[in-house]
Amino acid sequence: MQVDHPDLRGKVAVVTGAGRGMGARFAAALARRGVQVVGADIDTELMDRAAADLRAEHRDVTGAGDVVGARVDVRDKEAQEALAATAVERFGRLDIWINNAGVFPEAPVEEISAAQMQATLSINVEGVLYGAQAAAAHMEAGGAIVNMASVAAVRVRRGRAAYCSSKAAVSHLTECLAVELGDRGIRVNAIAPGFVDTEMTRWVQDDPAALAKALDNVPLHRLGSPEEIVGPMLFLLSDSARYVTGHVLAVDGGSRHV
Ligand SMILES: NC(=O)c1ccc[n+]([C@@H]2O[C@H](COP(=O)([O-])OP(=O)(O)OC[C@H]3O[C@@H](n4cnc5c(N)ncnc54)[C@H](O)[C@@H]3O)[C@@H](O)[C@H]2O)c1
Repeated sequence: MQVDHPDLRGKVAVVTGAGRGMGARFAAALARRGVQVVGADIDTELMDRAAADLRAEHRDVTGAGDVVGARVDVRDKEAQEALAATAVERFGRLDIWINNAGVFPEAPVEEISAAQMQATLSINVEGVLYGAQAAAAHMEAGGAIVNMASVAAVRVRRGRAAYCSSKAAVSHLTECLAVELGDRGIRVNAIAPGFVDTEMTRWVQDDPAALAKALDNVPLHRLGSPEEIVGPMLFLLSDSARYVTGHVLAVDGGSRHV
C-alpha cells in the first residue's frame, strides 16, 4: 500500500545505515515523496551502489528527490557532525534524521567480550546520540528524528544480551531526547521492529528450525517486510504525527506480547 505524505515534499533527510536493508528502503520512500536524501553508511561501496540504484528507481517519478551517498561511521561524533553539515551544504536545510545504522552481534552472556560489548553500545547507542546531536544543531522547529529500537528492548532473546540491552538504551534515550529537544520543537520517536526480512535476519531465514521457533513468538505468524516498516516511519516523520514525540512504536506482528 502506497501512502502519500505531501507535507514531506521539499524536506531534507539524512538516513544512516542506508546502504542496504531498511535504511535503503527508508531513503527510497522519502525520495519518492519528494524529499532530498543523504544516505550514509560505513560501507561506501554498498552505499554508492544503493544511491545509484535509488536514483535509477526514481528517474521517472515526477518530483522525486535526489539520493546522495556519503560515508559515516556512526560511532564517530565528528563524522556525524560532518554528515549533517554535508546535507545542509548540499540541500540548504535539514528536517529529518533517521538513526537507523545498527549491528546485531551474537554471544552467550558468559562469552561476551569487552570489545564486542563496547562496539555494540558504541554503534547502537552512542551512534543514536551523536546522530541526534548533529541533527538538532541544524534543525528548526518542526524537525523530526526517528531512531531504530527493537522488540529486543522489551523481550529477552538468548545469545543477544549485548543487542537487547543496547536497544533498551535506544528506547529510553529516545524519551530523553524527546524531552530536551521538545524545547526547540523537534520531535524524537523510535520504531521497534520485530523480525524483518533483511540481511540482519538472514541467519533465521536460512535455518528452518530457527525460523519456526522465531515465528512461534509472532502472533501474525510471519516475518515483516522492510516495506511494512516504511509506512509507520513515514507517519512518524509526517505532519500527521506533529503531536507525537517520545514514542516507541512497535511494528512487530505482536511479538512483544509473547
Ligand atoms: N531486521 C530486523 O529484524 C530488525 C529488527 C529490529 C530492529 N532492527 C534495527 O533496524 C536497523 C536496520 O536494520 P537492518 O535489518 O536493515 O540491518 P542491515 O544489517 O541490513 O543494515 C544495517 C546497515 O547499517 C550499516 N552500519 C553498520 N555499522 C555502521 C556504522 N558504525 N556506521 C554506519 N553504518 C553502519 C551497515 O553497513 C548496513 O548497511 C538496525 O538498527 C537494527 O538493529 C532490525
